[in-house]
Amino acid sequence: WPVFAGDIEAILALKREHNAVILAHNYQTPEIFHTVADIVGDSLALAREAVNTDADVIVLAGVHFMAETAKLLNPNKTVLIPDAEAGCSLAESITAEDVRQLRARYPGVPVVTYVNTSAAVKAESDICCTSGNAKKVIESLGVNRVIVLPDEFLAQNTAAQVPNVEIITWAGHCEVHERFTPEDIRAVRESYPDVVVLAHPEAPPEVVAEADFAGSTAGMADYVGEKRPARVALVTECSMSDNVAALYPEVEFVRPCNLCPHMKRITLPKIRQALEQRRHEVTIDPAVAERARLAVERMLAVR
Ligand code: 13P
Ligand code: SF4
Repeated sequence: WPVFAGDIEAILALKREHNAVILAHNYQTPEIFHTVADIVGDSLALAREAVNTDADVIVLAGVHFMAETAKLLNPNKTVLIPDAEAGCSLAESITAEDVRQLRARYPGVPVVTYVNTSAAVKAESDICCTSGNAKKVIESLGVNRVIVLPDEFLAQNTAAQVPNVEIITWAGHCEVHERFTPEDIRAVRESYPDVVVLAHPEAPPEVVAEADFAGSTAGMADYVGEKRPARVALVTECSMSDNVAALYPEVEFVRPCNLCPHMKRITLPKIRQALEQRRHEVTIDPAVAERARLAVERMLAVR
């Protein structure tokens, strides 16, 4: 990436100077993912690695809820997000008050909250989950009725894996994955009859039904790494294909994919500025943080 060489060199030096680590989500662009990132992965891996790091500063190359999760797990470290506006349609879809009202409506039913939510919403929850562990988290509760919020499609796709549990959900959607249709998948299969289709469980169930496999971003990357299909379509955010394609040049990656405008707010110049100016620092009201941390820690304890 010669065009970014100046920023990359500066970021590497700033990381050493500030004892900083960069955690990057799989949806970051390749020039971030393959150069300055120390740890890359899905939401679950980034949360786990946030606990392990001994850096003083964590730069989260991802969206705001991921930076908040890192801060929850590292209250004494500086956590920076390079663009404070990097949000998420799922996190926007529900408030802490909404969760309190759901609890009043379904007394005693445990609340499983997707990590794609604000710390205030996590604080009202019993336990968090990601797309990589939703089934295990629900099973760990040993109940036959559970509220899974706010992603309606993740809840429905997970419900298919836990047939003995009734799942009450919320009408939140990922603006990137809700746009995929079964026709998109049929069209790609028509063009490439041998294509292997991998979908993210934030996509609607009728889309997942057309895919060969559904899993978190790490689940999809692992599938390609293990099976090395000749041709694959990753029905998810576009940078995912670019990042995995760089690792397996023998695999052909075909579309459809959609861009996440929030993830794309993070750029190398903004990461450089974040380190130079120690901004934008993530802070969480301590009263909220304490309860939200519990929900995240309970999730991390599920293996
Ligand atoms: P995972 O990386 O956990 O699969 O999450 C996907 C996503 O949309 C994160 O914003
Ligand atoms: Fe949120 Fe979807 Fe973007 Fe992930 S891809 S940050 S779930 S809007």
